[in-house]
Amino acid sequence: MKIKLPERLLSVASMILPGKAAADIGTDHGYLPVHLVVEGICPFVIATDRARSPLESARQLVELLSLTKTIDIRFGEGLEILEPGEVATICMAGVGGATIRSVLSDSPLVLDKTERLVLQPQRGAVGLRRWLADNGFTIVAEDLVMEDGFYYEIIGVEHGHMVLDESQTEFGPLLLANRHPLLKDYLELKKADLTRLIDGLSQNRTKECQERLAQLSYGVQRIERALKCL
Ligand SMILES: C[S@@+](CC[C@H](N)C(=O)[O-])C[C@H]1O[C@@H](n2cnc3c(N)ncnc32)[C@H](O)[C@@H]1O
Repeated sequence: MKIKLPERLLSVASMILPGKAAADIGTDHGYLPVHLVVEGICPFVIATDRARSPLESARQLVELLSLTKTIDIRFGEGLEILEPGEVATICMAGVGGATIRSVLSDSPLVLDKTERLVLQPQRGAVGLRRWLADNGFTIVAEDLVMEDGFYYEIIGVEHGHMVLDESQTEFGPLLLANRHPLLKDYLELKKADLTRLIDGLSQNRTKECQERLAQLSYGVQRIERALKCL
C-alpha cells in the first residue's frame, strides 16, 4: 500500500538524505515515515511524537503495513528520544518555528551529529532562519508549496556558515536566488495582507497606531524591493 503524501510532505521527503536513516519528529499520522520506507528513500526511519494518541495511529499504520522492522515508533519530547548519530536526517514539519527552535536548542549533542535538518514551520520561518544562521547552519535547499490555499516554506539545512541579509532572512535566500515560481504570488499576497492592515489603521491617530503603521509600511517596502528582483 502506498500513501499519497500532500505536496508539503512530498517536498520535505525530497530534501531527506537518501539511503540513510532519518527521524520524523512530531510524526502524527506517520505518513512521511511510511512514504520514505515504501519508496526506498530511507532504509530506516524513527517516527516520534510527544502525544500518545497520534503516535498510536502511526503505530497501527506501521503494523498494518508490516513495516515494524524499518519504522521505529518512539514516544517522547523533541530529539530526546534519539541517540547522537542515530540518523542522518531529522525532519520536523507542521509545527511552529518557535517550537522547532526550542526542540533543536534542547538537544545539542544530537544536533551536532546530524547531517541534515528538513524543517517546515507552520509560522515563524523568519525567526527560524535567523536562529539557524546564528547557530551554525547553512541553508542547502528551500521550497515553497501551495496547498489548500496556504503557502508553506520548507527549509533544508546542514552545518555551516551563512550570512543572511534582511531580505534573505525574510523571504528565503534560495527562494529569492532561484526565483521560485510561487514566490511572486506569495509576496503579492503578503503585500495585500499588509496593505489591508494599513487601510484599517490609517484613520487611527494614536501613537501606538502610528508606530504600527510605520512598521507595516516598511514591511510593504521590503516586499516591493524583493518583488523588483524577481
Ligand atoms: C500538526 S502535526 C504535524 C504532523 C506531521 N508532521 C505533518 O507535517 O503533517 C504536529 C505534531 O507534532 C507533535 N509535536 C509538537 N511538538 C512536539 C515536540 N516538541 N516533540 C514531539 N512532537 C511534537 C504534535 O503532538 C503533533 O502530533
